[in-house]
Amino acid sequence: MDVLNAIKTRRSIGKVKPDPVPKEMVETILEAGTWAPCHHQTEPWRFFVLTGDARKGLGNIFAQIAKGKMTEPISEEDQKRLEREHNKPLRAPVIITVAVEPSDNSKVFIQEEFAAVHAAVQNILLAAHSLGLGAVWRTGGICYEPEVKQFFGLTGKSELVGFIYIGYPDMNKVGRRKPFSEVTKWME
Ligand SMILES: Cc1cc2nc3c(=O)[nH]c(=O)nc-3n(C[C@H](O)[C@H](O)[C@H](O)COP(=O)(O)O)c2cc1C
Repeated sequence: MDVLNAIKTRRSIGKVKPDPVPKEMVETILEAGTWAPCHHQTEPWRFFVLTGDARKGLGNIFAQIAKGKMTEPISEEDQKRLEREHNKPLRAPVIITVAVEPSDNSKVFIQEEFAAVHAAVQNILLAAHSLGLGAVWRTGGICYEPEVKQFFGLTGKSELVGFIYIGYPDMNKVGRRKPFSEVTKWME
C-alpha cells in the first residue's frame, strides 16, 4: 500500500475481532512508530504492549478509578458501569499504550516531545492499516489518572498519549473530511 493511499483509507476501527495478532506484525508496527520524526534525536516515545491477561490488569485499574468516583452504596447501574470499565481493554487483542518520556535537555521544548510521540502514533496507525489490521487511538481523562501512570511505571514528566487498540477489523467505516481548501490559506 502506498503512503498516500494508506493515509486516505486509514480509519479508526473501534470494532475488531478477538483473533490474536501475530507478534511479528506488532513488532513491525512498533518499529514504524520509532521512525517518526523527533527534534534533537530524543526518541521520546515509550510503548507498552498489552495482550492476553495483561489487558485485565488495565481493566482493573479502569474499574478502580471509576469506583473511586462513585458514591457508596454502589447502585446496580454503577455496577454495570464498573463491568464495562473492566472489560474495556478486552475490546481488542492488542493494546499498544503510547507514552512520552520528555528529554531533560534544556534545549528541548516539551511540546515538541509530545509532537514527536503523536507522529509515532500516526505511524503506528498507518502501519497497522497497511498490514490489514484495524486500529483506534483512544484517550480520555483515564490517560491522565495517576493510577494509570503508576500501572505503567511512568514518573515525573512522562505522560500517556493514548491507547492504540489493534486487531483484525470487524466493521467498515467511511471517512469524511472537509476539502483541504477550506482549511488552507495560500500565501504567495
Ligand atoms: C488525540 C486523539 C484522541 C482520540 N481519542 C479517541 C477515543 O478516546 N475514542 C475513540 O473512539 N476515538 C478516538 N480518537 C479517534 C477519532 O475519534 C477519529 O480519528 C475521528 O473520529 C476521525 O475518524 P477517522 O480516524 O476514522 O478518520 C482519537 C483521535 C485523536 C487524534
